[in-house]
Amino acid sequence: MQSSLNQKLLSSCAAVRVVPVLTIVDVAHAVPLARALVAGGLTALEITLRTPVALDAIRRIAEEVEGAFVGAGTVLDARHGEQAIGVGARFLVSPGSTSALLSAAQNFSVPLLPGAATASEVMALLDHGIRFMKFFPAEQSGGVSALKALAPPLADAKFCPTGGVSPANLAAYLACPNVVCVGGSWVAPQALVDAGDWAAIERLALTASTPRRS
Ligand code: 3PG
Repeated sequence: MQSSLNQKLLSSCAAVRVVPVLTIVDVAHAVPLARALVAGGLTALEITLRTPVALDAIRRIAEEVEGAFVGAGTVLDARHGEQAIGVGARFLVSPGSTSALLSAAQNFSVPLLPGAATASEVMALLDHGIRFMKFFPAEQSGGVSALKALAPPLADAKFCPTGGVSPANLAAYLACPNVVCVGGSWVAPQALVDAGDWAAIERLALTASTPRRS
């Protein structure tokens, strides 16, 4: 069940290639921020469950932003997952995985993208039928060269590297055959969010979404 949901998420993420990772502090920012990113071509949005307004932000985006495919990040346990699904999250992202979370995910109605950073962690997820995973923290775990080294022995694993992805290394990550998409916060810098500069964020999103169109 979760295995096939996880593969469906791979297809959705392959279509967008860049997933903004958003930590929303002021819930009033949620809808205009999401609209700017969607207008810039980034339709899959991860809202981290790290602020008190995160669930409300997910709910508002799910209800109000046409074209957004909104998910929850920093899902550490089953309760987080259930709460996020309850407010409309269509996918869940976790920085790592625990056996409790993976068991709970079998009953989730939406896909889980759990994190792995080592060969053993990747193997454990493959054992659970999870073939699409977050590679986290990407840069700190060896970045592009680590992904290239993991590819031959772990050919079934496909990744969304997140953590330290930026315009400087985006193309190199996306060129890895085992990379489906990347995640990152650089498309929505806090200063632009605080300033309500949605046009600037839309331009950053357009730039980030351009490689897949060229
Ligand atoms: C996260 O989950 O916070 C991601 O790692 C975002 O990383 P970044 O801020 O380096 O893009």
